Amino acid sequence: MSCKNFLLYTTWLIIFINPSVEWPESNSIPPPTPTPWPEQFHALLCMKLYSGVHQITDLWYDWPKGRNVNLQQKQLGVYMYDVEWNNGTSFYYTKGINGTCQTIEFGVGIPRPDFLDGANYLGTQVKDGFLCNVWEKVDFIWYYEDVATKRPVRWDFYDGKYIWLLVLFRVDARYRLNQYGKFSGIITHVMTFEAGATLPDSVVQAPHYCFTAKPKREDV
Ligand SMILES: *[C@@H]1O[C@H](CO)[C@@H](O)[C@H](O)[C@H]1NC(C)=O
Ligand SMILES: *[C@@H]1O[C@H](CO)[C@@H](O)[C@H](O)[C@H]1NC(C)=O
Repeated sequence: MSCKNFLLYTTWLIIFINPSVEWPESNSIPPPTPTPWPEQFHALLCMKLYSGVHQITDLWYDWPKGRNVNLQQKQLGVYMYDVEWNNGTSFYYTKGINGTCQTIEFGVGIPRPDFLDGANYLGTQVKDGFLCNVWEKVDFIWYYEDVATKRPVRWDFYDGKYIWLLVLFRVDARYRLNQYGKFSGIITHVMTFEAGATLPDSVVQAPHYCFTAKPKREDV
């Protein structure tokens, strides 16, 4: 046995016998952690829903005010207001003379700024043309953050064991399933991201017809 081979064998033997032996590199650099969401931000999102429908969403996240507002335009669809409050209530409405509203009690708050805490780091990947750090949480959300600017580039929801987590993101049951009765995913591309931007309260005041019908309860 040559000296080189001998070293190789003994190295493998040590690793085999003592699995706690690790390469020095793996100890020295802890995996990156996702940047928490700013307490207030505006993002323009370009989404592809599981049904194949495309949607543009103006997301106005406001943790101090306890609300998450999604102004939604589906392709050639009606303009929808989705105002989610941290007390569990969501208002889905359209405005105008024939405006409609549905109030849903989800029984959970909006996502916390640190909702990605504890996510598994999966390394880097080029996504939408950006070099990203990638994390996955509970087989449900895949999150891509630009390595250079630490801004989110994209997040994807997928069918997984923890489908009930969709409730946390207020993905209404009406929209959860594809034509086969199965959830398959929502892909969200982040087109703009303005930390600190806020929406005036007057814009998100639910119209009077939201308060005349009985709220629907969403099963968690
Ligand atoms: C939650 O807060 C919103 C906004 O303040 C309010 O309109 C709604 O009635 C509240 N829901 C409950 C269940 O208290
Ligand atoms: C509202 O509904 C009525 C009755 O269906 C319809 O005739 C009218 O065109 C609608 N108005 C608008 C602005 O959509």
